[in-house]
Amino acid sequence: MTATLLITGASQLLTLRGSNFPRRGKSLSNLGIIKAGALLIRDGKILRTGTGAQLESTAEARGAEKIDVAGRVVLPGFVDSHTHLIHAASRAEEYELKIQGASYEEIARKGGGILNSVKKLRAATAEALKFRALADLKEFASYGTTTIEAKSGYGLDVGNELKILRLHRELSAEQPLEIVSSFLGAHVVPAEFRLVANGAEKYIRLLLDQLLPEVVSNSLAEFCDVFCDRGAFTCEQSRQILTEAKAHGLTPRLHAEQLSHTGATQLAVKLGAASCDHLEQITTADIRALSKSGTVATLLPGCDFHLGWKQYAPARKLIDAGAIVALATDFNPGTSPTVSMPMILSLACTQLRLTPAEAITAATINAAYALRREKHIGSLEPGKQADLAVFEVEDYREIPYYFGMNRCWMTIKRGEIIYIRD
Ligand code: NIG
Ligand code: FE
Repeated sequence: MTATLLITGASQLLTLRGSNFPRRGKSLSNLGIIKAGALLIRDGKILRTGTGAQLESTAEARGAEKIDVAGRVVLPGFVDSHTHLIHAASRAEEYELKIQGASYEEIARKGGGILNSVKKLRAATAEALKFRALADLKEFASYGTTTIEAKSGYGLDVGNELKILRLHRELSAEQPLEIVSSFLGAHVVPAEFRLVANGAEKYIRLLLDQLLPEVVSNSLAEFCDVFCDRGAFTCEQSRQILTEAKAHGLTPRLHAEQLSHTGATQLAVKLGAASCDHLEQITTADIRALSKSGTVATLLPGCDFHLGWKQYAPARKLIDAGAIVALATDFNPGTSPTVSMPMILSLACTQLRLTPAEAITAATINAAYALRREKHIGSLEPGKQADLAVFEVEDYREIPYYFGMNRCWMTIKRGEIIYIRD
């Protein structure tokens, strides 16, 4: 690693600096922009930020390797705080059925949906899954993402859930993106338990008595997630699972109020969950509860877009009420097959009515907070990891403005270039 790196020539350097994180309300609009900006990086961390003129004359800059980004925009690498990274195949066949009028839930009731992906994952070798994930991780980096959260949840038995979680760990060690692991054994009740009496209860016992201790003793996850919704787990079952996971040291997070209103948001707040995600069906009372809590409202507009839904989460109300809003891709084969955070920003702007500045804050520092990593990533400040994205634009508003095209020019993780456009 070169000792010191000087990145200079940014038309705008979006630092997102300031100790007021997580960002709520009006503070989402403050990007801490430095015009004609530069930053110095040493040993993978940010040493200083400032204007090019300020930094180029410093002692540290002398002898530093220099990258002139020639008027492009530099910002913190995106933190994608909700993905289902490890899956075996697409569900393009269901995509076509949905376009022809079948709903997500109808397909799931017929054994498609998540169970379709479970069948495919169980049949896949760890090597095949790893090969696919490595290609996807490269794609994430090519869109400016430097950290992702990844969930299990397509295994749904002891061996296959552990297979996924071990891959999270292997991939963390073998490629540059940071992977934050979540245990989502409670995605849905697997097919073999649906045929027996009290199958859901029996599956939950398997999760808690056999899987959870393995996950914890091998440090395979930091978070425990539950899909709390119609057709998945009830609020009471989710409370049971997450309470036990929390007692074992895992931090709760929830898939909440996507297909129906279940009370999952209020449960997330009561449990002190790191985040509750989706929220298309939340109520005014839920918004109030979130706004008084430290639980992040993670919005996933890629799902609504891909499923062709007209109802997006009430993002404006959440922000205006003071809730902590984050954005993520929800990369998965059933509801959101994209790794592109810039596309999610475009949807956040046009469909959720976030301003470009709010969307960038939601996809960086607030998302870092949702992963409990706000002290290390999510903004460009001295002492933090040098995780950044350089976009081929002159003004940050052009990042969401262009859609369906990739304007990311360079991605840097811990001071190392991990992607550069040919
Ligand atoms: O976040 N809603 C639950 N889980 C995923 C979908 C998973 C799938 O359909 O495979 C989601 O949307
Ligand atoms: Fe999800």
